[in-house]
Parts: sequence; structure tokens; C-alpha cells
Amino acid sequence: MKAPVRVAVTGAAGQIGYALLFRIASGEMLGKDQPVILQLLELPLDKAQAALKGVMMELEDCAFPLLAGMVGTDDPEVAFKDADVALLVGARPRGPGMERKDLLLENAKIFTAQGAALNKVASRDVKVLVVGNPANTNAYIAMKSAPDLPAKNFTAMLRLDHNRALSQLANKAGVAVGDIEKLIVWGNHSPTMYPDYRFATVGGASLKDRIGDDDWNANDFIPKVGKRGAAIIEARGLSSAASAANAAIDHVRDWVLGSDGKWVTMGIPSDGSYGIPEGVIFGFPVITKDGEYTMVKDLPVDDFSQKAIDKTLAELEEERSGVSHLLG
Ligand code: NAI
Repeated sequence: MKAPVRVAVTGAAGQIGYALLFRIASGEMLGKDQPVILQLLELPLDKAQAALKGVMMELEDCAFPLLAGMVGTDDPEVAFKDADVALLVGARPRGPGMERKDLLLENAKIFTAQGAALNKVASRDVKVLVVGNPANTNAYIAMKSAPDLPAKNFTAMLRLDHNRALSQLANKAGVAVGDIEKLIVWGNHSPTMYPDYRFATVGGASLKDRIGDDDWNANDFIPKVGKRGAAIIEARGLSSAASAANAAIDHVRDWVLGSDGKWVTMGIPSDGSYGIPEGVIFGFPVITKDGEYTMVKDLPVDDFSQKAIDKTLAELEEERSGVSHLLG
């Protein structure tokens, strides 16, 4: 039996947590032969801690053979101790009358503290995925607050946007989701992100040629993927949770176990490629292997794509400048 991997999850009693933990414990994220220890963080509030206790009781009742241990806590340094993987899901939601700026600042406080705790106690190889919104900027803040950890270990979740785009494309082209390759989602996890299927293929042939409908791309596909989160809230009365948890599983599984040569989208710190300033956490195409991701580089960017990339970058730069005073 392999040694257990320590997986920290914040916001563990929230709705994404509830859709996520059972799948991690069943082996869907790290493999069916990989035991895990879950280290679960919730707010130091009676209600949150009680809910966390209930979730842990249910995990226990599943008798997962791969669940080698569990810790529930309100202390980030306990949750992140020796963590190999950290899923930062918990975040401050936007309250009534709260401005976007206030939301950024409230979350900046959370992710500064959690970055510092990771820096202090996590495994030096910890793989961090930030799900809590604004995910890219929260990941940036955590990365900047953890100077002793490699910056490349901090990532943000664009995979839900990637998966949403895949399904829309499969429906439009009448092909199976699993047959589509080389899709990209550039930028911020927000309605400004740019799902780009210029390079996508089905069975080796161009998906763009098969669809052959540029109007659909600009006026239907891109806005639909961008506003999908809002459409789910309107339909369900609650934000995406199972699909978000599923995307988090996909992101970490591919990062740890590899993507078999396929392109996937991850929010990663830019190395300056594609004109994105170094350090900005941006959705890029990557190929993953042996626990590392490698950006797909030197793809041509046409005028339409450049405008879309500039727009999502401008939003990220604005978010970054809104919190820069907190980062020294
Ligand atoms: P939720 O409100 O159901 O759960 C969040 C949980 O986090 C709560 O139980 C809360 O007590 C906890 N929490 C808040 N601050 C915390 C902190 N500082 N430390 C530990 N726990 C903390 O929310 P839900 O639906 O689970 O969503 C979580 C986050 O994920 C939200 O920010 C949401 O916007 C984001 N999200 C991101 C997506 C993406 O694609 N990147 C997709 C869907 C949601």
C-alpha cells in the first residue's frame, strides 16, 4: 500500500466541500490505490464547526478503504500541516450591498493568512488549487504570501469554464465531449474569460472548421460559457457546486497523475508568455506529466483573440492593483 497523501480542504462544510470530499476519499482524485488523509478547515463558528463534524461523521459512515485519517479544525496551521495537496475552497461570499472592491479585500485577508500558513507548515511540494472566488486573485495573494514555496505550486481553477465550454462545443458540433482536444480557456475565472477553440480538434480534424459559424462563437458560445455560473444560480437558486467539485477533481487529478499528452486549462502564474505579465495567475493551456504542468507555448493569437485576452487581463490587473497595498 502507498503512503497516504495529505489533502487539505478549506470551506469543507460548504456546498462544494460536500460534493468534493466523498469523491476524494473514494479515490477519484488521486487514484484508486492512493490512501488519503483529509485535513479539513472551517470557520471558527459553532455552526460551521458543527456542520463540519456532521460531514466527517458521514465520511466515516462511508467506510472508504482509502480514507486513512481525518482532521477537522478551525486553525489553518493544523489543516495545512505537511499537506501535499491543498484545495482552497472556502471564501467570503458577496453579501447584500457589498461592493466588488470590499469582496476583494475581505478575501485578500483570508488568502494572505492561508498563504502564510501554507508557507509555514505545508509540504515544500504542496500543490495548491484555489477555487474560492475571486479565484485567480486569491491564488495570487496566497502565492505572494508564501515566499518559501515555489510560485508554480499555486494555481486557480479555470477547469469548470473549460468543462462548460467542452459540453457546449460537443452539443453544437454533434460530437462526443471526450473526443474534443486542444480547447483553451484564457484568463480570469469570471465572465471575461475567453474560451478559444481555434486549435480544437475532433478525431484530428479541426472543430472550428466543422462548426464553421463565427457568429455563434462571438454571440452565443463565448457569452454562454461566461454567464453559465449566473444561469445555474438562476435555475437552481444556488451556485454551481457538484460541477465545481468535479472540476476541482479533474484539475488536481490531471496535475498529479498527468493528462496523457492532452491540453487542459489551468490558472497558473504567467512566465511572461503571450504578453501576460509575469506572476499574474492566468488561464493557459497546459500539458501535465509526472506531477508538473508545462504551458503550451507559441500559439498564434489573432486580433479577435488578442482583444479577448486583453480584456480578461485588464480585469485581473485591476483586481491585483486593488489588493497590492496588502502584499508589501
Ligand atoms: P459555501 O458558502 O457553500 O461554502 C463555503 C464554506 O467556506 C462555508 O462553509 C464557510 O463557512 C467556509 N469558509 C469561509 N471562509 C473560510 C475560511 N476563511 N476558512 C475556512 N473556511 C471558510 O460556498 P461554495 O458554494 O462551497 O463555494 C465556495 C467558493 O467557491 C465560493 O467562493 C464560490 O464563489 C467559489 N466557486 C468557484 C468556482 C470556480 O470555478 N473557481 C465555481 C463555483 C464556486
